[in-house]
This record gives sequence, C-alpha cells and structure tokens, in this order.
Amino acid sequence: MNPITQIKPLDVPNAILQRRSIKTFKPEPISAELLKQLVELTVAAPSSYNVQSWRIILVQDEAQKAALSVASWNQKQIIEAPCTFVFAADAMAGEKDLTPILEQGLATGAFSEGTVNYFKTAVPQFQAALGDKRREYAIKDAMIAATHMVLAAESLGLSTCFMNGWMEDKVKEVIGASEDPDLAIAILVPVGYAAEPRKNPGRLPTSSNVFVDRVGNPY
Ligand SMILES: Cc1cc2nc3c(=O)[nH]c(=O)nc-3n(C[C@H](O)[C@H](O)[C@H](O)COP(=O)(O)O)c2cc1C
Repeated sequence: MNPITQIKPLDVPNAILQRRSIKTFKPEPISAELLKQLVELTVAAPSSYNVQSWRIILVQDEAQKAALSVASWNQKQIIEAPCTFVFAADAMAGEKDLTPILEQGLATGAFSEGTVNYFKTAVPQFQAALGDKRREYAIKDAMIAATHMVLAAESLGLSTCFMNGWMEDKVKEVIGASEDPDLAIAILVPVGYAAEPRKNPGRLPTSSNVFVDRVGNPY
C-alpha cells in the first residue's frame, strides 16, 4: 500500500506551521515504504546545475546510532529516533563525471543538446572558479534537501529535529568518510514519531529581520 494513502498528507503551509524540533522520539519504527517515500521527496529537491552534490546517509543500526550520538555531544534524539539522515555534500561533485545527470536531463527533454554541451564545460568551470567556496556551495544543496525532507516528513506524520551540534571529524568517522577530504557534513536530522508535544518558541517580528529593497528598511 502506498503510505501516502494511509494518512492524509498535510499541505505545505500546514506542515511548515506545525513542524517543531522534536527532542524525544518513540521507539516505533518507520515503515520501509514510508522511508522510501521520504527519501524520494528529499532528493526531489533542486540543486545547483542539478548536480545533486548531497550525499545522504541513513543511520539506522543501533551501534551506528550510538556512535553518531557520541559524535553529536551525546544528543539523545539520535539514539531514540529510528533513523537519522546525515546530510553530507561532495564539494567536488560538479567536477566529477556529469554524464548520468546530463543524459537524464536530455532523456526527459528538460535539457537540449545545446544545454548539455554547454553544461559539459560550464559546470566544471563554474565549480572550479568557486575555489574555497566549493564546500559552502555544496552545503547549500544539502541544506535545501534537508529542508525538503523535514517538511515532507511533517506532511507524512513524522517528526524531525535539525541538528548542528556535532563534531564533523567524528561524524565522518562514523559514516566511514574520514579519508574523504571533499565530503562536508551539512546537517543531521533524526526522524521518527514524536514522544512529546513541543511548543513553538516563537519568532521575532518581521520588522526586525525582513526588509524591503535595502537592509534597514523594515517590511
Ligand atoms: C541549523 C539548525 C541547527 C540546530 N541544531 C540543533 C541541535 O544540535 N540540537 C537540538 O536539540 N536542536 C537543534 N536545532 C533546533 C532549534 O533549537 C530549533 O529549530 C529552534 O529552537 C526553533 O524551534 P522549532 O524548530 O520548534 O521552531 C537546530 C535548528 C537548526 C535550524
């Protein structure tokens, strides 16, 4: 059965408003079908030149979860949640073989032959010109995918917690990427069924951080 038919998915505005950072999860597992759906919605996210530089590791094994929690200052959400998505990013993805991406774009009709020929040189050139910013740019793609995941999870009845509290070298050790200098960790997101209600801590008035045309001109 398609999990989406089991519950009525929340629409995007309601998923955004209902989402809270959940710190306590039930031990209840996520069905394989629901997890697959969540993964597919996650990688439906856009990315720069469609390079999809994210590398997503689903940490589910109990020993792996325990190690990841230690790498995250012992935050217990990772132990409790049935799965934690580690959103990593390959800073060099745009300078690797783009053939599968370009061929797919051609096959769907999204890219013309001209676009493909242009991208073959333009994408690696653009990426190389980023220099030290390659990592930052790859992390942007991974963060957009993580945001898709969090909202899709909420819509499908699951809860999440964005997590930035971890040591990158330790997380890389846990996922087996210590030897890869180009792999950056963007964010960790445990996902599962909430074991607590959580209140919205609120947001500043938009007049303090949303502006029109120029910074300082409040919306
Ligand atoms: C980038 C980012 C990193 C965060 N890191 C952590 C974390 O390591 N541990 C944690 O418990 N919560 C973490 N949070 C959750 C925030 O504390 C939470 O989003 C914020 O208090 C607002 O609450 P809300 O998400 O329920 O609206 C993080 C949130 C974001 C967006």
